[in-house]
Amino acid sequence: MHKMQLGWVSALAWLSLIMATEIAARQPPRCIMYLTGQHPVVPSIDLLEHVTHVALAFMSPALFNEPGRRQWPLFMTVADVRAAFPEGTKVMIAIGGWGDTNGFSVAALTDETRRTFAENVARMVEATGADGVDVDWEYPGGNGEDYKEVPNSAKSWEIEAYPLLLAQLRAALGPQKLISAAVPGLERDMLAFTRTTVPRIMRHLDFLNVMTYDLMNRRDTVTKHHTGIELSLGAVDAYVANGAAPQRINLGFAFYSKYFRTEHEACSRLASPLGCPTLLLEDPVTGADLGRSGGFSWHDPVPEDVAASFAKALDQGIYDEDRGGYYYWDEEEDIWWTFDTADAIGRKFPLVLEKRRLGGVFAWGLGEDAPMFEHLTALNESLAQHKAKTRKDEL
Ligand SMILES: *[C@@H]1O[C@H](CO)[C@@H](O)[C@H](O)[C@H]1NC(C)=O
Repeated sequence: MHKMQLGWVSALAWLSLIMATEIAARQPPRCIMYLTGQHPVVPSIDLLEHVTHVALAFMSPALFNEPGRRQWPLFMTVADVRAAFPEGTKVMIAIGGWGDTNGFSVAALTDETRRTFAENVARMVEATGADGVDVDWEYPGGNGEDYKEVPNSAKSWEIEAYPLLLAQLRAALGPQKLISAAVPGLERDMLAFTRTTVPRIMRHLDFLNVMTYDLMNRRDTVTKHHTGIELSLGAVDAYVANGAAPQRINLGFAFYSKYFRTEHEACSRLASPLGCPTLLLEDPVTGADLGRSGGFSWHDPVPEDVAASFAKALDQGIYDEDRGGYYYWDEEEDIWWTFDTADAIGRKFPLVLEKRRLGGVFAWGLGEDAPMFEHLTALNESLAQHKAKTRKDEL
């Protein structure tokens, strides 16, 4: 009798697990667009059909450390954003961003500071009418913009404090509001995302935006694909290995190009310019930019000094089938270009999203692709195909 009851209980548990997995698989993919103060441009509605969330970037974390604050300035109101997107699109406020980390460090320090921060965030969400927040702390535990001024050893306490801050946020916002986090794509920066912390982090979050771009930056010394397939798989796999469910991970797309000046001899000797040495890109003492690399969105004017080279990159670039990434090495000017074309975007669906059964995508950022929106068009098309495919798999 006892045994039979147990059998029933476990059969029921299995059944509900299978059903939960099925429901998760049937959920349409998330598609989050960061809408930035630099480029607050929204395309026509026929490009927004698959967009599920908008994250307004950014509010500064420092705002939330002042007890009793009431003003929450932003470049656009939540109501105006809602009016520009299909009904039902979730609107989130992204807090932080590259270089704006001090407010998070102050917030995370003690029980009391964490509570002040979380309560202010909750009041901001209430006041603005947003559906939730995206926590963009780059990065807890160190390796942020100030990594040469403040050593990581001075931030190691943040590794434990980060999940505690998220827990406090969840307590203040309640179970209905959305909380996501933008997290690093390079393992060298995943200081706060370990086997012990990731399960604790995921307990409080709805989903993770894994920043699978800027995977080559000026701290690198050899050329790489900044938003390539192989490196993206590495990023996603690291979070899964540490305990994040693939369904709760979103893959990041970059609506901008990047370039890096390289050596000449070493790069021309190799069969492929991938993995060849760059010039020194940042000051080894201060971490300052030496002006030998850069990036610009599809909405920005092309910097004059690289305009001719960029034109060649658009025209003569190559897709690297091995590592997965569109690139061009300008052997006259010794410039390495790395960015996603519309074709490169499409390839990421079978090779990353579907292969790893991820729950969605996101892009930095929507207006960065204006006025042509060629990359968003590619993403829209891939999402439509992906949905059709997923529906067919179910039949
Ligand atoms: C976006 O995809 C949908 C199909 O899901 C399509 O109807 C729509 O025309 C696409 N938008 C553009 C601008 O291509």
